[in-house]
Amino acid sequence: MIKLPLLGLAMGLVSHVALAAPSAPPLEDKAAFIDHLIGQMSVEEKIGQLRLISISPEMPREKIREEIAAGRIGGTFNSRTAPENRPMQDAALRSRLKIPMFFAYDTLHGERTIFPISLGLAATWDMDAIAKVGRTSAIEASADALDMTFAPMVDIARDPRWGRTSEGFGEDTYLTSKIGQTLVRALQGKSPAEPDSIMAIVKHFALYGAVEGGRDYNTVDMSLPKMYNDYLPPYRASLDAGAGGVMVALNSINGVPATADTWLMNDLLRKQWGFKGVTISDHGAIQELIRHGVARDGREAAKLAIKAGIDMSMNDTLYGQELPGLLKSGEVTQAELDQAVREVLGAKYDMGLFKDPYVRIGKPDTDLKDYYGEDRLHREAARDVARRSLVLLENRDQTLPLKKAGTIALVGPLADAPIDMMGSWAADGRPEHSVTVREGLRRATEGKAKLVYARGSNISGDKAIVDYLNFLNFAAPEIVDDPRPAAVLIDEAVKAARQSDVVVAVVGESRGMSHESSSRTTLEIPAVQRELIKALKATGKPLVLVLMNGRPLSIAWEREQADAILETWFSGTEGGNAIADVLFGDYNPSGKLAITFPRSVGQIPMYYNHLSIGRPYTPGKPGNYTSQYFEEPNGPLYPFGYGLSYSQFELSDLALSKTALKRGDTLQAEVTVKNTGTFDGETVVQLYVQDVSASMSRPVKELKHFQKVLLKAGEARTLTFAISEDDLKFYNGQLQHVAEPGQFNVQVGLDSQAVQQQSFELL
Ligand code: BGC
Repeated sequence: MIKLPLLGLAMGLVSHVALAAPSAPPLEDKAAFIDHLIGQMSVEEKIGQLRLISISPEMPREKIREEIAAGRIGGTFNSRTAPENRPMQDAALRSRLKIPMFFAYDTLHGERTIFPISLGLAATWDMDAIAKVGRTSAIEASADALDMTFAPMVDIARDPRWGRTSEGFGEDTYLTSKIGQTLVRALQGKSPAEPDSIMAIVKHFALYGAVEGGRDYNTVDMSLPKMYNDYLPPYRASLDAGAGGVMVALNSINGVPATADTWLMNDLLRKQWGFKGVTISDHGAIQELIRHGVARDGREAAKLAIKAGIDMSMNDTLYGQELPGLLKSGEVTQAELDQAVREVLGAKYDMGLFKDPYVRIGKPDTDLKDYYGEDRLHREAARDVARRSLVLLENRDQTLPLKKAGTIALVGPLADAPIDMMGSWAADGRPEHSVTVREGLRRATEGKAKLVYARGSNISGDKAIVDYLNFLNFAAPEIVDDPRPAAVLIDEAVKAARQSDVVVAVVGESRGMSHESSSRTTLEIPAVQRELIKALKATGKPLVLVLMNGRPLSIAWEREQADAILETWFSGTEGGNAIADVLFGDYNPSGKLAITFPRSVGQIPMYYNHLSIGRPYTPGKPGNYTSQYFEEPNGPLYPFGYGLSYSQFELSDLALSKTALKRGDTLQAEVTVKNTGTFDGETVVQLYVQDVSASMSRPVKELKHFQKVLLKAGEARTLTFAISEDDLKFYNGQLQHVAEPGQFNVQVGLDSQAVQQQSFELL
């Protein structure tokens, strides 16, 4: 609730809005204020509030302003900066009731300064770093006259074929929940009403990450216990942290599209969870109810959506067209309409817009001269977070860190790729601001080592793929091929390698390959790039692979070729500097995977916290009727939680404070972690719990706590984790949230696989 000095109201703030009527309740009383406003609204004005409009450069601005002034639009997305949004807000304040607009955008991992993609942020396991991303994003987005972001995306992803895996925080429920909470708090700051805060809209509610086959927009079919235990908690955690709204998923769940799912939107979200914010459909999702086969026409689609509890219609056509008739016929009631309007106005209220519609737009004399200027960037923060997100996957014979001496060959189609550095959903990031790997290495080696660059290959040799990626909804075609034959590119790279002491090859995916609507059937690095790797390997020079990608890749073959592999995701504006920092040892890598890397696409779904089964695979025992694939080694290539450092860390002496835990009590798990190497560095100590025997099969382990610690070379520290009854709870077959008595294993490790174990009994 926003407290306002009454004096402020009396002195003119009210002049912006309809509450000027003498009988208007004070702005401080949110419920009464909104009820009063609704009481003054016509049906058309109410429907107008439910319409969220996408603004594109070619749309006639005057027409939009007319629509707004007529009270037919509630908010926009994709329009940003004060000069762009102010005329629209002016138009809203010319409307009969002067209800302000809000302006939204997809600010996911930065607004102007682009931070690593979400999957990279998750790999930091560093909530301070993630809070920095959220806060910086809010500061930049609010300065861009934005009030709201469609973030965080907390869809659990266990099928990396799904291109939007890049937008989420990986496969784990606990880690994703923590990150969701952290980002919501950071984006919204003290309150979403603050001038430098923006409202967080959590998405995509719900289960979008579980689309069948990893194919975007496909159906989701899931048991209720799995839903409750694994997929729903991150949305709930983000809402509990105060997120102002949810965006509704495009998929169906067990046959019912989320956009028409009364159980999901009403029974679960509003009644069970007590959610009081705004719900927004995804782009065109109401219209899509027809193609889902649950609405015979637009009229029925609009009716289903509003009755299910979809307050706002993104990129609306149907609410505007159909709700008037539906109200007239009584198929949709005034109460249903008013409820949706109440939530939209409530969100506007919470964003501080009734108090000051220009809270983020500001006055014309505060407009920036250049919204795209270098001075808007937070480079230091971006570099700091980016280097924390990098995961060292291999480092044979201490190939890394490299010396800033001799000659270094830098090759690969992603070595000098400013657009790809930003990753997908890069808000208003500008490629000209990106520090590429080439630029980062150039700066780091200047005057010390010689850097030789050759592109080496294109992203893909398959024209159909390149055409598809260039057809995606980016502003301009993004993949610009080098027209020379593949063999010529490789020869050039091999020549560069031969004259060098070490080769750094930057390979992987273009950003469009890990994007909405970019599902893949293979997780391999494209063939032309693998040819390049093969040729580089043949030179006999030490080979460092720097991977750029937005999903786990199956890199079993690459692992054999390379001496070192650094996973860099799409690391953002300062990515090139961050990568150079790690390659040269100016920063000791500390990232850990937030998602399992399978050996091959055939192993999918593969995630560390799978349920116990009757015939688990026993390593080294083929043909024994256990659960395995016979064509290749079993298990992941790199497990969840994995990541190397230039130092070595050892865990010892895991001890529990008791062997029996009473209800309501806590027990302490203690473990000593020692940096036995020669570099100072950070590592993540991870605590997993296994419920050994319960009323249902339970996961073989589940992350419950972690601590990221910085240890000097040679330093040891004893860490304590408190385990409570809450950590042991799960949703059972009757969907009761319970901790069942019996044995629990506590596993502590530096990844999810290599763990030490102790047990206790819950009484
Ligand atoms: C995506 C959403 C996004 C929206 C608006 C949709 O295509 O699914 O995640 O927020 O577009 O840009």
